Formats: sequence, C-alpha cells, structure tokens
Amino acid sequence: MNDKKKVLVIFGGQSGEHEVSVISAESVIKSLDNTKYEILTIGITKDGHWFWGVKPQEWKESKEQITPKHIQVSLALDPKEPKFIALDGSKLDNNGKCDIVFPVMHGPKGEDGTLQGLLEMTGFPYVGSGVLGSSLGMDKDRMKAVFQEAGLPIVPHITVLRSELVTQKEKVVERISQLLGFPCFIKPANLGSSVGISKASNKEELVTALEYAANFDRKLVVEKGVKAREIELSVLGNDNAKSSIPGEIVPCKDFYDYEAKYLDASSKSIIPAELKESTKKQLQEYAVQAFNAVGAAGLGRVDFFVTEDDAIFVNEINTMPGFTQISMYPKLWEASGLPYRELLDQLIDLGLEYYVDSTNKKLS
Ligand SMILES: Nc1ncnc2c1ncn2[C@@H]1O[C@H](COP(=O)(O)OP(=O)(O)O)[C@@H](O)[C@H]1O
Ligand SMILES: [Mg+2]
Repeated sequence: MNDKKKVLVIFGGQSGEHEVSVISAESVIKSLDNTKYEILTIGITKDGHWFWGVKPQEWKESKEQITPKHIQVSLALDPKEPKFIALDGSKLDNNGKCDIVFPVMHGPKGEDGTLQGLLEMTGFPYVGSGVLGSSLGMDKDRMKAVFQEAGLPIVPHITVLRSELVTQKEKVVERISQLLGFPCFIKPANLGSSVGISKASNKEELVTALEYAANFDRKLVVEKGVKAREIELSVLGNDNAKSSIPGEIVPCKDFYDYEAKYLDASSKSIIPAELKESTKKQLQEYAVQAFNAVGAAGLGRVDFFVTEDDAIFVNEINTMPGFTQISMYPKLWEASGLPYRELLDQLIDLGLEYYVDSTNKKLS
C-alpha cells in the first residue's frame, strides 16, 4: 500500500466528442503528478462498454486490437463500498476502488449528468459538476432559462420541439422569421462540438436547418444571429469560484462549426483577448454568475459573444471543456498564472471538497 491518491480517469464514451475525450484524457494522465497520484483508467467504447485499464494512447493507435484484451467492468451499486467489478469475475487493480473519479468526458452521457448520476448512486467522489449542474450545462434551452433568471444577457431565442415541427412546420417557421429574423442559428438543445448546428439566411434554409437539427434531438433552440467576436473564460472553484482572464477564438470559417473546431488547424486562439479593461471585468463577473446559475462545481468554460460596440451575450457554459494541453480551458489558467499540473491538483481537491460538502461524509 502507498499513500498516493488513486485517481480513476474515465474517457471515451458514446458522444460525438469521443475522440476529443481520448485526447483530453491522455493530457490529463500525462500531467497528473505521479508523486501524488496513482492513476487507474476506464475507457468507454462508442457503443457504451466500459473497459478497465485501457490507456488513451493505446486507443489512439490500435483500438480494435487492444480493447478485447482488457476486462469489461461495471459499477457495483454498494454505496458503503464504491467499486468497479469485472464482468468475468476477475480481480481488478486496487480491487476496483479509487479515491476519486475524474470523468474526462465530453457531451451526452459523459458531461450531461447521466454519468454523474451513476457515480452518485455508487458513492464515488468525482471531479466536476454534479447531476444538476451537468445537465443544465448541457441543455441549451434550460441553460438559457437559468441565465435569464440570473439577469445575464443572452441573445433572443425560441425553443421548438420536434413534434411541433411535424404538426405545424409553417407556423414555426413564420414565428421564427417574425421574432428573430435572419440570419439565425438552429441548434439541437443537447449536443456539443457544433454537431447539428446550422446558420440560416432565409426561410428555405431555416426549414432545412430545422429538419437537420431534429435528427439529433427532440428539442431545438433557434437563436438570432449576432455579429460578434467569440470570447471564452475559464472558471474554477466550488462555492467561491474564480474566473480566468478572457481568450478569443477566431474560427477559420464563417462560424465555429465542427470542422473549424477539430479538423482545420487554422482556427486561432488569442490569449489574452484584446478588450477594454471594463469589458474584461464585466466578462469575469458574468462568467462566475453563469457558473453559479447552473449550479456548476469544479470547472466550467463560459463562452460569450462580444459585439463591436462591446455588448456582451453569454452563449453557453461547458462543464467539462476540452482539456488537451492546447485547449482553451487550461491555456487560460496557464496565462492567469496557474500551470496545468497545479490546475489538476486543484480540480481533484475541489472534487473531494464537494463530495464532503454534498454528502456530509468524512473521507476515509
Ligand atoms: N446566436 C449566434 N450568433 C452568431 N454565431 C453563433 C450563434 N450561435 C452559435 N454561433 C456559432 O456557432 C458555434 C457553435 O455554437 P454553440 O452554441 O457554441 O454550440 P456548441 O455547444 O456545439 O459549441 C459558435 O461557436 C459560433 O461560432
Ligand atoms: Mg460552443
């Protein structure tokens, strides 16, 4: 036995952001201080099977060959003794137990509260937001509702259900055209990485965009298009969260779609973003307010639109933002004086603190 904390990193998963999660997890594992932590891993395949001991690096190189050599596991629902168990009954490292889970997972079934719910049922401490914060951070419609309630500025929007599209498409299109006008952005409510999102400049494009987005979700959000810069801030903490300095994303395309995010390296980030001091300060206040509004914990990246005349709109919060060494979330902290490795230390401490605070339990 040693007294290093056992950190179990979970990565992969069933969302469209599977590959991003693998790269994020690889960075996290490489950078966790191995004098303090012993690292255990679980890789979740795209079809939702959990494999013990898989390393992200192996998955990047030869997923098909490697995965069958690992043991498939499941959670044991025994809150007195949280642990994973092998489906074939074999013995797992550290008997399937750990001190904290770090779900380095993006998108649905990873970042949306479902995985967090499983971890709560089992009784594991974990890094990041709980069930409520994660699910509010995923659903763009409900997220906007709590932002609005907190008095945060957001762009005008309309929520449409897939069933409304089926029964009254013309009415929906008319309502959007009159209330929001063009261009507008059509988004599935519960995805990420710009999947299913389109920009529409007229009624025909709007119909196509609504039908396309409805392939991904039963609920859609349509927003008035704004001409603005995209500014992002990182938030860290639990009850007294703090905000980093702002950074700017400059997409290589008309908007920051999936291709601009992951396939075309010519999208740029500018840190710190060039903004007036008063705008920076306002953004930092809004970032923490947005974090608190959804009830986030640990970490969150809050994304904004800032127009030419410095009007600010909160676009969204991501409760498990991209976490590679070149991702905005850690880069903003590095530029704010907190190196990647120390950021990971803080996230683990915050996860343990949140567990104690929310369960009223002492850690053993
Ligand atoms: N209302 C809007 N006005 C202008 N551009 C937008 C608007 N909404 C989204 N976009 C563009 O689409 C991108 C993806 O939208 P976003 O809501 O951030 O979805 P995701 O959660 O998939 O990142 C944004 O980064 C931005 O480039
Ligand atoms: Mg976004």
